[in-house]
Amino acid sequence: MMGPQHAQTNKDVNGPTLMPGGQYIKPSNSSKSTFMIFSPYAEEVGALARSLKIFESHKINLLYIESRPSKRFPGKYQFVVECDTDDAKNLQAAIDEIKKNSEYFNIISRNHTDNKDSVPWFPSNIKDLDRFANQILSYGAELDSDHPGFTDPAYRARRKYFADIAYNYKHGQPLPRVEYSKEEIETWGQVFNQLTKLYPTHACKEHKHVFPLLVENCGYRADNIPQLEDISNFLKDCTGFTLRPVAGLLSSRDFLAGLAFRVFHSTQYIRHSSRPLYTPEPDVCHEVLGHVPLFADPEFARFSQEIGLASLGAPDDFIEKLATCFWFTVEFGLCREDGALKAFGAGLLSSFGELQYCLSDKPEVRPFDPATTAIQKYPITEYQPVYFVAESFEDAKNKMIKFAATIPRPFAVRYNAYTQNIEVLDSKEQLYAMITNLNQEMSILQDALRKL
Ligand SMILES: [Fe+2]
Repeated sequence: MMGPQHAQTNKDVNGPTLMPGGQYIKPSNSSKSTFMIFSPYAEEVGALARSLKIFESHKINLLYIESRPSKRFPGKYQFVVECDTDDAKNLQAAIDEIKKNSEYFNIISRNHTDNKDSVPWFPSNIKDLDRFANQILSYGAELDSDHPGFTDPAYRARRKYFADIAYNYKHGQPLPRVEYSKEEIETWGQVFNQLTKLYPTHACKEHKHVFPLLVENCGYRADNIPQLEDISNFLKDCTGFTLRPVAGLLSSRDFLAGLAFRVFHSTQYIRHSSRPLYTPEPDVCHEVLGHVPLFADPEFARFSQEIGLASLGAPDDFIEKLATCFWFTVEFGLCREDGALKAFGAGLLSSFGELQYCLSDKPEVRPFDPATTAIQKYPITEYQPVYFVAESFEDAKNKMIKFAATIPRPFAVRYNAYTQNIEVLDSKEQLYAMITNLNQEMSILQDALRKL
C-alpha cells in the first residue's frame, strides 16, 4: 500500500475527520548492510570468484551478490554485493583490497549515515523492486485501534489476505485477480456513484479524458471493482506505467524509487463497509479512481517519473522534499484550465468532501514551485489549508527537472526502458554512447522534417 504521501484523503462528507496516518511519511529504515559496486581490472573468467575470496578472507558475510555486464567498461563485468556491516574494521580491510583490484568502485549503501560520501542504495533494475516487499515498515494487516475495521475479525482476515498476495508478488507475474465480496462491491459502488457526480465539474481535463476509457476497457462500473491486472495492462499501453500490489507501508524512498521505473505501488483492498466515504489510508478506491486516470496521461507520467528519478540515491533531506512535492502534486495538486481551477491530485479526486472544498474560496492557493513547495508543512489529518497550482504537467515536469539538478549526487541517472535499468551516468564511455544515440535520433528527425 502506501507510499509516502499516499495518504488518507477520504474524509467524511461531514468534514475533516481525524485519521491516524502521520506514519505515512517515514524515513527509510536503515538496514545494517552496505552495498557496493565494483568492476575488477581482470576480465577473465573467475574475477567474481576471486573478489568473493577477498570477502571470505576478511570474514565478511555477503547477503546478496549480482554480476552484470559493465556499461562503463564494455566487455567487462561489474559486481554488486551487499555485505553485513557488523564488523566495521574487517569490512574496511575488505573494501581496501577490493578497491586495489578494481577499475571502478563505489559504495552505495543503506547504512549511509556512517559514511557521508556514500550514496544510499537504490534499485537499478525493475526486478529489484521485489526487494521492497521485505522492507515494508508495517504489514498491511495491522490496523490502528481507531480504524473502522479494527474490531471486525472478518475484515482483518481480509486485509491479511490482500497483504499476503502483495508480499508474495514478484515482478513479471500477472497481478492476482481478486473476487470481491458483495459487501465490498457495495462499498465501492457508493464511493463510485458519489465521486463520478463531481468529476464533470471538478476534475482536470486529463482525468475526464481517460475516465471513459477506463469504463470501456477496465470495467469501471458502480457494480464492479476493476482488477489491477486489467488496469496495469491498460496503463502499459498508454504510458508504460504498471502497477504492483503493495503489502504494507513503504518508506518514501522506496515508494518514490518505483516511479523512476514507471511503477506505481497500489493497494488492492477496500475500506471498511461501515464508513464508505471515509478511509484512514489509501485503498483501491483511492488508487483506481484517483491515481490511475492520471498515469494514463503521457505528460503526467513523465512528471511522476522525474520525481522518481530525482529520488534515486538522493540524501534523506531531499527525499523528504521530493515526497512533499509528490504530496502537493500527485496527491493534492490543482491545475488551471481556461482560468478556472481543477483538481488532478488523487487525494482530491478520491474524496467527495475535499474535492468540493479544494475548489471553494476557503483554502489558500499558490503557484507550484518545487523549491518552496518542497518545504511547505501540511496536515495529514484534515483538509489542506494550502494547495499548489501547476500551470501544466509539462511546466511542472520542467520545474522538477531544474529542482532535481540541485540535489547533491555525484552522477546523473536515466532510465533505459528497453532493459528496464537505471543507468548511472558517470563515465565518458556512457556519455559518448548517449551522444551517438542522440545523433541517430537527430537524423531521424531531419529525415522526417524533410518528408513533411
Ligand atoms: Fe495516493
